[in-house]
Amino acid sequence: MLQSLSIPIIQAPMAGGASTPLLALAVSRAGGLGFLAGGYKTAEEMRGEILTMYQQTQSPFGINLFVLSNDVVDLKKVNDYREKIQKEADRFGIRLEEPLADDDEWEAKLTVITELRVPVVSFTFGCPSFEVINKLKQNGSYIIVTVTSPEEALIAKESGADALSVQGIEAGGHRGTFLHNHLHSQEEDAPLLVLLGLISKVVDLPLIAAGGIMHGKDIVSALTAGACAAQLGTAFLRCPESGAHPVHKAALTNPHFTSTAITHAFTGRRARGLVNRFMLEYNDTAPYAYPHVHHVTKNLRKAAGQANDPECMSLWAGLGYQSAQELPVEELVHLLMKQVRENESNELNTQLLNP
Ligand SMILES: Cc1cc2nc3c(=O)[nH]c(=O)nc-3n(C[C@H](O)[C@H](O)[C@H](O)COP(=O)(O)O)c2cc1C
Repeated sequence: MLQSLSIPIIQAPMAGGASTPLLALAVSRAGGLGFLAGGYKTAEEMRGEILTMYQQTQSPFGINLFVLSNDVVDLKKVNDYREKIQKEADRFGIRLEEPLADDDEWEAKLTVITELRVPVVSFTFGCPSFEVINKLKQNGSYIIVTVTSPEEALIAKESGADALSVQGIEAGGHRGTFLHNHLHSQEEDAPLLVLLGLISKVVDLPLIAAGGIMHGKDIVSALTAGACAAQLGTAFLRCPESGAHPVHKAALTNPHFTSTAITHAFTGRRARGLVNRFMLEYNDTAPYAYPHVHHVTKNLRKAAGQANDPECMSLWAGLGYQSAQELPVEELVHLLMKQVRENESNELNTQLLNP
């Protein structure tokens, strides 16, 4: 499946608005693999987007789902946190939502994906059972599981994944770790190239490199380190086809934001985004409780977006965000592939000089 792509570029699924069918279509048309994000949507909204893809392209495309665990969380801690951050919501005249544990419509979404035989299905935050993966494979889907460690890679392989999306610490958005909420604070993360090396030693599946890939030379480095394709998220955020919130797009070039960090203040699960006031003020007190904290802060983030206030929004972005360009997808993909060709020949020259 991955070998059949004419270029080794996969557009990362980005829940929360960025991954529109428009974006996925443009990437698939440019020869890469476009992805829809199933997370946070209803199963029926997801169905609509998948049907749009089928109507507009013959090319393969993917859909991504969250694998949520039934963790027991300390609700008192979540409620204390909710009370503490209510003052932020007061500024927008809104009430924060109650903590909620949902499964993001897991069964309903699996039914839609099975019915519509989506060509590529990827999972994050965990690995589905062998039975679930096997059923989707029998139905014709190609299965990718996001992993952040060699241990997770082994679990995904045993569960029948066709390929792994290897997510380095540089990556924007949520960490895809399988960890339960209470273990997140002990997590260790490796940079992408190190992780590719570690994982290629223990599994022989096709590896997709994700995290901080912004330039063709990064793609060449990932392929040289053993990946067969590169998955880019942040690089596509500023494209006109991206549905990222305009305030989020603008923040990526706002000199006021000077770095990214990993925080669980917005959702209760670790994610990398631009450092803003909310992150700085609340990261230390936020509980690790996903998706409870996500639901508590949802209205606040939405209201902040409507009020054009980037300080209370989750501005997910990878370490390389300063290189994100405002280019139509087709131009961006052509540019990346031109850079790949230039850097492949540099790589070859280096090999010739140092045989
Ligand atoms: C705004 C945003 C939203 C994301 N949402 C998802 C998602 O819904 N599912 C998923 O598997 N990964 C998601 N990711 C992570 C990407 O799949 C990928 O690992 C990451 O974008 C790679 O790093 P980069 O952003 O530096 O390219 C998201 C990333 C960003 C930036």
